[in-house]
Amino acid sequence: MIVLENVSKIFKTEKNKQLNAVNNVSLKIEKGEIYGIIGFSGAGKSTLVRCINLLERPTSGKVYIDGEEITALKPRELRQKRKKIGMIFQQFNLFASRTVFKNVAYPLRYRGLSKDEIEKKVMSLLELVDIKEKAYVYPSQLSGGQKQRVAIARALANDPQILLCDEATSALDPQTTSSILKLLKKLNENLGITIVVITHEMNVVKELCHRVAVMNKGNLIEEGDIFEVFSHPKNKITQDFIDTTSNLSKIYTLVEEKDNITKIKAGECIVRLKYKKESVGEALVSYVSRKFNVDLNIIFGNVEIIDDSLLGGLVVIMHEKEKGGITNTLNFLHEQKIDVEVISDARYDE
Ligand SMILES: Nc1ncnc2c1ncn2[C@@H]1O[C@H](COP(=O)(O)OP(=O)(O)O)[C@@H](O)[C@H]1O
Ligand SMILES: [Mg+2]
Repeated sequence: MIVLENVSKIFKTEKNKQLNAVNNVSLKIEKGEIYGIIGFSGAGKSTLVRCINLLERPTSGKVYIDGEEITALKPRELRQKRKKIGMIFQQFNLFASRTVFKNVAYPLRYRGLSKDEIEKKVMSLLELVDIKEKAYVYPSQLSGGQKQRVAIARALANDPQILLCDEATSALDPQTTSSILKLLKKLNENLGITIVVITHEMNVVKELCHRVAVMNKGNLIEEGDIFEVFSHPKNKITQDFIDTTSNLSKIYTLVEEKDNITKIKAGECIVRLKYKKESVGEALVSYVSRKFNVDLNIIFGNVEIIDDSLLGGLVVIMHEKEKGGITNTLNFLHEQKIDVEVISDARYDE
């Protein structure tokens, strides 16, 4: 549905300097997919997504929508094609001086529809996003979540095949975020609409996306199935990014601050384990404890739900009762395909 081929966007900044906001990015998004683009602020996510509908023209590279190269279209053809791509934003971008009804009717204005047809279309859109009762109020009378529902209805007015969402939930509280994510999921399932979600919020991606791309400094540094990327991030930046939402990452701060929880003695180490839920981390912990004669003290544990699969994580202090116990345990865990990271190591201390 969407293909980017070596897309770059260079901005000229003051003093004739250049800024590579997007650097040679290629990706493919399938029809009916919910695709996430994540990364820290300034990574180039917004610029990249604006290149998908050519709100921003790439400095080089090609963009294909549904098999057609839109970077080669004439302005009039492009305007037609763009109708098939809806977009929503963090700040909703509603017209303050128009009612909800008129906001949603706006994209229909040159379609040659009768008043009745417009009425019918707008009302059915408002019903779809569950905000029909607000049809005749002004945006200022709506909550953030309601505004975003209106913006979604407006983005859907021309029956797009693609919906681009640039930080669409970043201005909303967690509960409202969750309700908007549900709505997006419903639109994807019921209308088969392809959705591209840009976000710096890990939770959004976890709840919503099938696949994800990670951007850093204009580059696409990692891409894949959401569960794969979460369970086996290949890139340090990806891991850092995932860690920003995980409680387990607090352990690094505690180690750095020499917190009491993370104080270890000679013959001990702190290990972080990550496993798919089927491999039952907790049971394994008690098994290796007996088998290799090590004490394992769990100091953190959590289970995350990602695209309906479970990913478990534990931070444990290992204490060996005989030399080599921890090393044997770690080797065994590796063999069991558990991700093992030694955070703090006093195995060889005297
Ligand atoms: N119109 C522009 N002119 C100059 N620089 C820009 C423009 N838009 C974005 N940038 C710069 O490009 C980089 C990427 O920005 P952006 O795509 O907004 O990142 P993100 O959405 O990941 O936070 C940033 O360094 C930003 O300052
Ligand atoms: Mg942005």
